[in-house]
Amino acid sequence: MEMTPFQLANNTPLSLSPNFVLPVNKRPNLLNVLPSASIPIIDLNDNNIDDGQGPSPLVSKISQACEEYGLFHIINHGVPKELCQKTLSVVRAQYVTKDHTKQAKALNYYQKVQKYEGIEKVKMWSETFSHPWHHTEDFTHLLPTNPPQYREVFAEYARKIGELFDRLLSLISRGLGLENDCLKRRIGERPRLNCQANYYPPCPDPELTIGLPEHNDLGSIAVLLQVEGVTGLQVIKDGKWLPVDPVPNAFVINLADQIQVLSNGKFQSVRHRAVTNKLLPRLSLGMFYNPNYDTVIGPIEDLIDEEHPPKYRKYSFKEYMEVFYRQEGKRRVIEAFELPP
Ligand code: OGA
Ligand code: NI
Repeated sequence: MEMTPFQLANNTPLSLSPNFVLPVNKRPNLLNVLPSASIPIIDLNDNNIDDGQGPSPLVSKISQACEEYGLFHIINHGVPKELCQKTLSVVRAQYVTKDHTKQAKALNYYQKVQKYEGIEKVKMWSETFSHPWHHTEDFTHLLPTNPPQYREVFAEYARKIGELFDRLLSLISRGLGLENDCLKRRIGERPRLNCQANYYPPCPDPELTIGLPEHNDLGSIAVLLQVEGVTGLQVIKDGKWLPVDPVPNAFVINLADQIQVLSNGKFQSVRHRAVTNKLLPRLSLGMFYNPNYDTVIGPIEDLIDEEHPPKYRKYSFKEYMEVFYRQEGKRRVIEAFELPP
């Protein structure tokens, strides 16, 4: 049989082999997840409530969502529905192509767990690939060539998502009482932009395994596109897992660690995971916007005063990534940079 990097996508097994089965204390406990949740849905096209500068009703809605959830849906975001659908369909086609190119780096996540025999790697019920993107420069030579439309469709998607990142970073900056371009400047020159496609095949037993383990994203914010009608993403709020059910024609925006630090803890990076379901395959595409390794991150000076002392020390993004690669268990990476109160 011809081997492809995407085994699950092309030949999903009907039962879980033991190397997918998590020990009891790592299982998702789906019965404890609330059946539905009121994640904020924010309409970006409400011009009546935003004039592009300073505070506005739109800015306060976003700000509230950033404080309370670290995650929200956006609708009327300016990226055409057809383009989103075309993008998901070229991404899906990448999973079935046999002509796998080195441009799409396949990644199969695992979790290290303690079993009787010692530390073991348990595989996640998902298959992912990632590649860079760029909002202004031509980066098409870095993209997969299969299916043939991939490059053209993705380049257009990246251009639109680049504009959306600018807009969101500006709204979030204003929510902190800062200049429109403040966060973008602080995330710095030559940001590292990459995307990750996640495919979750239907799973014979969603209680025994997980699609993506709980984590915080690394960079500034993430723009996630997901297929409609299939849930899987969950977030922690007040110690409980909540589902983030897909909203038609929306993106999920989630805040990542560098925004929590830059905002001196006012806005929170959201802890999230993806679980599986028995019936339907699920596909999502996350676009990420990270600082480059030399960028120094720390609480923005304008947000610091006697009442608000800095909660984190300064570090370079390289240092952050070193801690990330060494991290163990459930400890969060930014805890390593916390200052004593
Ligand atoms: C990610 C992620 C969630 C999802 O790619 O970082 O959290 O719903 N994905 O696929
Ligand atoms: Ni994530």
